[in-house]
Amino acid sequence: DHINWDVQAAQKGGYKHFMLKEIFEQPKVITDCLAGRINMQDMSVQLPELESLAAPKRLHILACGTSYHAGMWGKYLIESWARIPVSVEIASEFRYRDLILDEDDVVLSISQSGETADTLAGMRRAKEFGATIIGLCNVVGSSVAREADHVLYTQAGPEISVASTKAMCSQLVLLYLLAMHWGRQKKTLPDDVRDNAVKNILALPTVLETELPRLRTRATELSRLYSASHSFMYLGRGFQFPLALEGALKLKEISYIHAEGYASGEMKHGPIALIDPEFPTFALALHDELFLKVKSNLEEVQARGGRIIALTHPGLDLNVTDPWIIPELWGPLDSFMALSCLQLFAYEVADYLGKDVDQPRNLAKSVTVE
Ligand code: G6P
Repeated sequence: DHINWDVQAAQKGGYKHFMLKEIFEQPKVITDCLAGRINMQDMSVQLPELESLAAPKRLHILACGTSYHAGMWGKYLIESWARIPVSVEIASEFRYRDLILDEDDVVLSISQSGETADTLAGMRRAKEFGATIIGLCNVVGSSVAREADHVLYTQAGPEISVASTKAMCSQLVLLYLLAMHWGRQKKTLPDDVRDNAVKNILALPTVLETELPRLRTRATELSRLYSASHSFMYLGRGFQFPLALEGALKLKEISYIHAEGYASGEMKHGPIALIDPEFPTFALALHDELFLKVKSNLEEVQARGGRIIALTHPGLDLNVTDPWIIPELWGPLDSFMALSCLQLFAYEVADYLGKDVDQPRNLAKSVTVE
């Protein structure tokens, strides 16, 4: 089923597709997500929606599709900054499992539309156990928002393109704020995070806005070199692992090229058997504590003749077929720049192949049936 947005009102604003427009809206989306949520006096995060709620003992994130990838990313951050154990669950699995939950459990349902059947069913089941439900949605007054005990709105504006882009960006912002909020409540925030997280995310929209045209140019170049491929592997570790999954999802959704996202370190347990000159890899090889591990994973790919596109940072020693060098940002904010690259690459490939970018075959914006 489709959610019928007022398509008339939502102009493409000079862009060829809604998807492209929505990718370019991300700097503004970040600004809108932050609006009213930062106390400029002491640079702290304020989430009045959660005022009455203590930091959870255990958190279960429930979602589908792109929202699920956002949740996986959030897990890394909430565990690290707020020291809360987080499980991330595909809603269609969670809803039928023999669940172990009680009043101490908090469920965070992430859904752009707020109408995804599996996500709704999962949160209803969790409620039966007395768990507290937080909804993280974009659509105001949606079912997830109405049925949750607390709602955080992502304020990203209507998303028309079936393939989700700016909604994920907004979900990452809220997860970042949640990790700060609970980390501060629990006094677990690392010093570096306390000093830098807010000020750097406030600067992010301008940085991203400046970079986006350049990112698109590189995405276009690479799309011409790689769009004849029939299959792709996406690799990342740590924060970049959920992004690898999302990059692969974007490519298959709109270009119909098979793509598989994998944790780089898991490649040796199977997918490495697929590597040959016809099977390219899109790697996330950014400057973080796992870079050297990723680098050695990529050397394995190259040794087998695999071509590699690698998103990487200036000054890193990485020898791949097609480096895509992007500016380095503070900590997890690198993910926002990388996400835009993955979205733009999928977009440019699909558009070059003449696919119906905004309305890919067999897919719906919101899946309200099982
Ligand atoms: C559909 C859409 C995806 C989306 C998923 C979850 O499959 O095509 O883009 O990520 O549903 O949607 P939600 O509204 O719950 O975030």
